[in-house]
Amino acid sequence: MKVLILPDAEAAVQRAADFIGRCVRSRADAVLGLATGATMLPVYDVLARRHRDEGLSFAATTSFNLDEYIGLAPDHPCSYHRYMQDAFFQHVDINPARTHLPKGDAADPQAASQNYEALIAAAGGIDLQILGIGENGHIGFNEPTASLGSRTRVKTLTESTRRANQRYFASFDDTPRFAITTGVATILESRHCLLLATGGSKADAVAGMVEGPVTAMCPASALQLHAHATVILDRDSAARLTLLEYYETVHPGGRDSTFE
Ligand code: F6R
Repeated sequence: MKVLILPDAEAAVQRAADFIGRCVRSRADAVLGLATGATMLPVYDVLARRHRDEGLSFAATTSFNLDEYIGLAPDHPCSYHRYMQDAFFQHVDINPARTHLPKGDAADPQAASQNYEALIAAAGGIDLQILGIGENGHIGFNEPTASLGSRTRVKTLTESTRRANQRYFASFDDTPRFAITTGVATILESRHCLLLATGGSKADAVAGMVEGPVTAMCPASALQLHAHATVILDRDSAARLTLLEYYETVHPGGRDSTFE
């Protein structure tokens, strides 16, 4: 696992956007795994700006989002379909037919989950999976105790995740209880994983992911098993890492010689 520590959130966001931009420039038909959440909003902003100002093109890119709430139609203002439209898709040249999110309003969510796995496989798998991390160590909506061998399926959200996401809904009771999420095993099959975390509220989860045991209690710790996982952090989210100085010695200033 490469741990890149940047001085602040803005620098971490730029570094994540550099990484994604490099992937798309080196392989125009890359298959991207995309995440939602507050952490990713500035990343999509930077990518949209680079599309507009520097011609960064997503025209041949295929995308698969990690998750969607059960029961929300694509046009629901709090759906991740809507988030992706508003934050990213409508600002770049990505072909809507090549964008995919799980169908939260499917009549048979289990069948929709299996179909989603088949679509990822038919696209040749994911080249670069972008991830955020929950305060409880979730990736996608793989909550603590999710099987590390899991595939796309319906997951029950924990109370802490619902509380964290309540701000987007009218009330806690209105916050969805279930989601379709790609599984931990689905994520681990991606050719490269890039996780971005910013802010002190993620420090415990980040420490568990990078230095804790590999455990279903912290699903992000499964990334320790991935041969090409890169974690981009700001100083606040890195604050609880025991080997902080070591990571800063290996990658001074958060630089990664593979990509520079
Ligand atoms: C969303 C997702 C989640 C978020 C995580 C962090 O697609 O996969 O795992 O990345 O909940 O969310 P924020 O960035 O809002 O703290």
